[in-house]
Amino acid sequence: MAAIQMLFTYFTMISAFAIPAFGELSPDFYDEVCPKALPTIKLLVEQAIALEPRMGASLVRLHFHDCFVNGCDGSILLDDTPTFTGEKMAGPNNNSVRGFDLIDQIKAAVNEECQGNVVSCADILAVAARDSVVVLGGSCYNVLLGRRDATTASRDAANTNIPSPSLDLPDLIASFESHGLGVEDLVVLSGAHTLGFSRCVVFRNRIYNDTACIDGDFAADLQAVCPVSGEDSNLAPLDESPVSFDTAYYQDLVESRGLLHSDQQLFKGDGSLTDELVRKYSDNPDAFWADFGPAMIKMGNISPLTGCDGEIREHCRFVNGY
Ligand code: HEM
Ligand SMILES: *[C@@H]1O[C@H](CO)[C@@H](O)[C@H](O)[C@H]1NC(C)=O
Ligand SMILES: *[C@@H]1O[C@H](CO)[C@@H](O)[C@H](O)[C@H]1NC(C)=O
Repeated sequence: MAAIQMLFTYFTMISAFAIPAFGELSPDFYDEVCPKALPTIKLLVEQAIALEPRMGASLVRLHFHDCFVNGCDGSILLDDTPTFTGEKMAGPNNNSVRGFDLIDQIKAAVNEECQGNVVSCADILAVAARDSVVVLGGSCYNVLLGRRDATTASRDAANTNIPSPSLDLPDLIASFESHGLGVEDLVVLSGAHTLGFSRCVVFRNRIYNDTACIDGDFAADLQAVCPVSGEDSNLAPLDESPVSFDTAYYQDLVESRGLLHSDQQLFKGDGSLTDELVRKYSDNPDAFWADFGPAMIKMGNISPLTGCDGEIREHCRFVNGY
């Protein structure tokens, strides 16, 4: 009885001090060990976006592509070497994801401010994504921290696990479900496409072949930027206001002006659940902002390495000791 009582007291104490259980992330992970870590990341993200507003979009996407491939473990940041195949050249990433130099700069600055290697690259991605959202007009959320960095990466998993823009709704839902995310998460997280750009090679099929569910003027405008062949790298914004975290993405979908096939799949005018969610966010920025943060936190919780798993990488491009 006494032992049970003690155990009970022990657990009560633990929860009173809010020590996270093993395997869990916490918002104050760096508060003691390096209080300057988060302000440093924020400052560098703000400066980078002031120089190039698209960088915010690119940082948000990096975190997504990290999390969907064996969890949020910084694996996307590892460079290919003669003896190591990383994820950067995987189809969804090659010539597409960006922001690696900035992440290197942030990591170096954080190591200096912290006087040591204590902040993981995976956590830097999560914080930089949040800071980008806030700088560009979204609302703030508390990022959970304490992820450690992978010592491995998988190009195959990156090819398989990052959803393709040619997917139809059921496959998009299945992809998110395989990561523990529901239909609501799919719709609100796709709202990240309120930021950033896509390449002609990615949306060409949509603007020439998706004739049944694309606004005619919109398709014609895009065809001027993206010919039937060639000019593969020409860019078009993912919504009408690509550097502002607003609800134009959802408004565009309601008007059949989604840039990617996968975007337009969320609104087909058939009154389905995703239709209703798109319609809700399209005329309710507060609802979008309120729901986006929690969904990002949920995405950020995908299979993190914690405790003694993985490592804190000294340099985000290489495993320690390379
Ligand atoms: C639902 C499935 C999704 C698909 C099929 C998809 C696909 C794509 C594609 C094809 C691009 C353009 C790539 C290029 O042309 O090089 C893109 C850009 C982008 N994606 Fe997604 N995405 C999805 C979900 C998400 C999620 C969940 C996020 C973040 C939470 C996100 C954030 C972004 C951002 C911010 C950009 C613009 C990046 C930039 O301009 O650098 N996407 N996405
Ligand atoms: C990545 O893109 C480059 C440049 O377009 C290309 O040469 C290379 O073959 C691509 N890598 C892979 C693995 O597809
Ligand atoms: C349109 O679809 C056809 C049939 O799938 C395909 O062969 C063609 O390349 C597509 N056109 C464009 C511009 O993507």
